[in-house]
Amino acid sequence: MAVKQFGKEWTKRNTLKSILLFLVHCLIYLLIAAGLLLGDKLGTIVEFLSAQGRNYLYALFCVILLFVILYFYFFFENRNMLQSGKNIALLFTILDLNLLLSCLVGYKFAVYARPVALVALLSFMLIGRKDAIFMNVISALLIFVIDTFAVLEVSNQECYSSLIIAFSAGMIAIYCASKARTRMSVILIGLFIVLPIDSVILLLEIPTLIGENAAVGELAGLERIVTQMGYGLFGGVMSTVLFIAILPLFEYSFNCLTAFRLRELTSSDAKILKKLKEEAPGTYNHSMVVAQLAEAGAAAIGESVDMARAAAMYHDVGKLHYPEHFTENQGDYNLHDELTPELSADIIRSHAKDGYTLIRNHHLPEFLADIALEHHGTLPIRYFYAKALKLTDGELNIEDYSYMGPKPQTKLAAIIMICDASEAAVRAVGARTPEAAEKAIRAVIEERMDLEQFSECDVTMADLTKIRQALVNALTGVYHHRIQYPSIKYRRTENGTKGENE
Ligand SMILES: [Fe+2]
Ligand SMILES: [Fe+2]
Repeated sequence: MAVKQFGKEWTKRNTLKSILLFLVHCLIYLLIAAGLLLGDKLGTIVEFLSAQGRNYLYALFCVILLFVILYFYFFFENRNMLQSGKNIALLFTILDLNLLLSCLVGYKFAVYARPVALVALLSFMLIGRKDAIFMNVISALLIFVIDTFAVLEVSNQECYSSLIIAFSAGMIAIYCASKARTRMSVILIGLFIVLPIDSVILLLEIPTLIGENAAVGELAGLERIVTQMGYGLFGGVMSTVLFIAILPLFEYSFNCLTAFRLRELTSSDAKILKKLKEEAPGTYNHSMVVAQLAEAGAAAIGESVDMARAAAMYHDVGKLHYPEHFTENQGDYNLHDELTPELSADIIRSHAKDGYTLIRNHHLPEFLADIALEHHGTLPIRYFYAKALKLTDGELNIEDYSYMGPKPQTKLAAIIMICDASEAAVRAVGARTPEAAEKAIRAVIEERMDLEQFSECDVTMADLTKIRQALVNALTGVYHHRIQYPSIKYRRTENGTKGENE
C-alpha cells in the first residue's frame, strides 16, 4: 500500500515510537485495571492471587492480544492516528475512561447500568466512524475479558449479555450520531441506545424465567427483568449525558475538531465573528456568501463541509484592523484616494497575516489561521499595481504589490481562494446567468493556475472542474433574479382591509 495514503511520510522511527507509546499506554491500562480489581484485596493479595492467579494471567494475555490487534488495525487502516503521541493518548484515554466507568458502575452498582455507548460516541466524534466501529468492538471485548476472567462477582450470563449489549448499543450510537447536528440532539440518541440495551436484556433474561431459576417465582423473575431493564435505561441515558459533559474536555485537551465545535465557531455569537459583524459588516456579509460557496465546493470534492464553512467565515478576519480600507466596508468615500499605491497595497495585503495572528491569539484551530494566511497566495493586488504603473515611468517590482503567501497548502485553502475570488468576480460583473457565472469563475480559476497558485497543494484538475460546477450552481442560486412584485397600497375600510395598485 502506498505510503502517500497516510499523509506524511512514514518511517521506521515512527513505527518504533508508536509501538513504544502503545506499550506505555497498555501498561497504564493494566495498572488501572489492577488497581480497580485488586485495590480492596491488598491485605490478602498473596492468597487471592495464588487461588485466582491463573485467571488473572489469562485475562492479562487476552488484554495484551487485543491491544496488539488494535495497533495492527490503526497501522494498516489509519496510520495517521499512530503518527502523533497525542492521538495515541486520545485512543487510550477513551479506553481508560471506559475501563474506569465500567468497573466502578458495573461492580459497585449494576452491570447493566454501565454507559456502554460512551466509547462509540467519543470515538465517532473525535476520530471517525470507521475507527469508532473498531474501537467499540475492542472496548466491548476488553471489558468482557475482565468481567469473565478477572471478576468472580459477575455471573457468566451477565458477562455474555454485557458483551452483546456493549456491541449493539455502540453500533446503534455510531449510526444515530451521524445524524446529530447539535449537542442537544445527541441526548435523543440516548433514547435510541436504550432500545438495543433493553431488548437484549429482555431476550436474554426471559429464558431464566422458564429455566431452573423459575423456582424463585415468575413474579420475582419479572420484577428482576424490569429492574435490569431500568438499569439498561440508566446506562443508555448516562452514555449520552456523560458524552455531552466530557466531549468539550477532549476537544480542548487534544485540540480535536468536532462538527459541534466547528458549528460553535461559526455561530454569529463566536467572539471574532461578532466583532466582524459589528465593525466590518461588509466583510461579514462577504464571508457569509463565501461560506455558502465553500460548502458547495467542499461537498463536490469530498472535503469536510463544516471545516470549509468555518474557514470561509474566518478567512478575512484580518480586515478587522483597518475595516474601512476594504471596498466592501466603504461608503462613498475611498480612503485609498489619499494614500500612495504602495501604502495601500501594504494595508490590503496585511489582512492575511493579521488574520493569522488574530486567530492564533484566540487559540482557534490551526487550519483556520493557515487558510486566512494562504487564501490570497502570492497573487498581485491588481488594482494598486495598475495604479502604481500609471504613476511611474520606471520599473516596478510586482512583489511589492503582491500578497506574501504562502500559496494554498491544502485542498480546503484552494477552495477558499477560488470561492473568495469567484464571489467578488461574479458580483463585480453582475453575472446572473449560469453561462456568465461559469465564464467568470473559469477566468478566476485559470488566472490562479497561470500564476501557479495551486502548485503546493494536491488539488487536481478533476477537483477544479467539480468545484467550478458546484460554484456556478451555488452562485446562480445566491444571485438569482428576484421577481418584481407589483406595488400595492393597503387601507383599512369598514368591510376589512382592501388593496389597490399604487
Ligand atoms: Fe482576503
Ligand atoms: Fe475575502
